[in-house]
Amino acid sequence: MSDTKLQAVLSSLSQAARQLDVLPSGRPAPDASYVKLNTNENPFPLPTIVWQSAIAALERQYLYPESDNISLREAAADAYGLSKDHVIAGNGSSELLGLIYRAFLAPGDSVAMMSPGFSFNRKLALLQGAQLLEIESSEPHSLPVEQFLLAPAKDAKFILLANPNNPTGTFVPVADIECLLAQSDRLIVLDEAYVDFAPDNGLRLVNRYSNLLLLRTFSKSYAAAGIRVGFGFGHPELIGRLRNIQNVFSMNVVGHAIGISVLAHRAAYEENHGHIRHERQRVTIALSKLGFYVTPSHANFLLARVPEGRDGRCWQAALEKQKILVAFFPDKGLENCIRVSIGTRPQMDAFLAATRDISESFRVGRSPASRL
Ligand SMILES: Cc1ncc(COP(=O)(O)O)c(C=O)c1O
Repeated sequence: MSDTKLQAVLSSLSQAARQLDVLPSGRPAPDASYVKLNTNENPFPLPTIVWQSAIAALERQYLYPESDNISLREAAADAYGLSKDHVIAGNGSSELLGLIYRAFLAPGDSVAMMSPGFSFNRKLALLQGAQLLEIESSEPHSLPVEQFLLAPAKDAKFILLANPNNPTGTFVPVADIECLLAQSDRLIVLDEAYVDFAPDNGLRLVNRYSNLLLLRTFSKSYAAAGIRVGFGFGHPELIGRLRNIQNVFSMNVVGHAIGISVLAHRAAYEENHGHIRHERQRVTIALSKLGFYVTPSHANFLLARVPEGRDGRCWQAALEKQKILVAFFPDKGLENCIRVSIGTRPQMDAFLAATRDISESFRVGRSPASRL
């Protein structure tokens, strides 16, 4: 297409469509020589039995996947003690988050979220022409229930809570969430992407509160981020609204097979979860000794405030030069932090070795080493 044609296409767009120009474009995937600790994956292989189920599914690759994900929804309903009408399955929990925005928001509506929170919600709100109200709390380990019951949050069409929260890793008591569910007549979306690394979860609330939608994913605790399996649990009427607008065949046969197999073999992941908890503690202690302040985490990542004198972006860049990728957020209050996913022991050793090296070079005033 020539440039004039392109300009004609772009200038024909409505104001709302043009707003999307501000969305960031994706970066190419780094090669395997990088230690990737920036997007909270779980870098362990699938248990053999789960792997075999994927291979068997590939033998039927010429068939469309089962419609409405029925077997997977039934398997999840059995595993989590619900009926299949309480369950939607999706191509990762981010697909389900997107459906929630589309099903419950119109342009001009607002949605409330804890701040700092999962930044993907900003994109979803923008796509829907909705306003995202970011509610700050002075106490990260409890929920500011009152703030959600007062304007402006009380007028939001739904309230988003991630527990454990991303990017902080903090966990609020399930009793606080129950208190909000009981007092609010708004939809509460409880995103439990990291809950398998936490001491408790909100599953028992699903049958008690019809204003709750609870989200889970197999991307973090079940090492399947690339397979894309997520679930939503809630009142059949809320779940039905989401199923009505879901793309037919949004999941594929491998996702179905792995999802069903993981659900049947969740115990096979206990060692994986134990490893992450152990490494989380070890890296917290090591970073603290290097002058970082690490927010106590209940997830598979750490939010670490860097030692004084440099900011988070500077640390992220220095680590990247050593082929270690961590996350940085320019948001107010997070400028001095990096977020580090918990990976294998060798990955975390590489991260700590690079961090020690950079600390030392900042201390003596030489430029940090580069492995690029
Ligand atoms: C809080 C939270 N919710 C949802 C997701 C999306 O997970 P997925 O789409 O891989 O299921 C993420 C991913 O990082 C997350 O941090």
